[in-house]
Amino acid sequence: MRIRLQRRRFGQLVVVTTVTAALSKFTETVIAQKPPTPSYKAAPSVSEVINVTLRVNGKEQALKMEPRVTLLDALREYIGFTGTKKGCDHGQCGACTILVGGRRINSCLTLACMHDGDEITTIEGLALGEELHPVQAAFIKHDGFQCGYCTSGQICSAVALISEVKAGTKSTVTPNIKQDGQVELTDAEIRERMSGNICRCGAYPGIVAAVREASSQA
Ligand code: FES
Ligand code: FES
Repeated sequence: MRIRLQRRRFGQLVVVTTVTAALSKFTETVIAQKPPTPSYKAAPSVSEVINVTLRVNGKEQALKMEPRVTLLDALREYIGFTGTKKGCDHGQCGACTILVGGRRINSCLTLACMHDGDEITTIEGLALGEELHPVQAAFIKHDGFQCGYCTSGQICSAVALISEVKAGTKSTVTPNIKQDGQVELTDAEIRERMSGNICRCGAYPGIVAAVREASSQA
């Protein structure tokens, strides 16, 4: 009886030893394996300095910055174009509106490194020397501002709006077709198309009048 028990115990010990040895070998093999080399190019780390070239108002700007720098901060802090304003920094007020390749965007919502080589126009690049852009002149004529904080964004937005209307881009407001078949840009449509630009001073009547006049001249 005693001999049979000792045999069983001996058998159990052999099994435990074999399993432990196999597990230890498996663990060593897994640890020794190198992680696979990724086939994609890893993104630079947020603190790594990279080269970014922006074409702002017709002039090339070669900059070094961390990839996390927004286009708005690059314009204001790296190049010194402070005409573009930071309001909410969250894409909600439109104060940072600029033109990239002629299209209006919120520069606080995009990274500068995503616009390497892009053609960028800010409020500083709209006038032709001493001659104001028609939208700028219309804003002055119609008192389209009070404190002026939103104004650069409003004007850039209005410039793009006029191009969009010319290109036939639809808004959610039903266009008013005149008797001669011409499409009239109504105040309701201007308000809708400019709805991404908030004015805390409430200068909206002047803004709408300015956009109406500038679009009729375009
Ligand atoms: S600062 Fe960009 S939308 Fe407000
Ligand atoms: S003019 Fe003051 S926020 Fe628009």
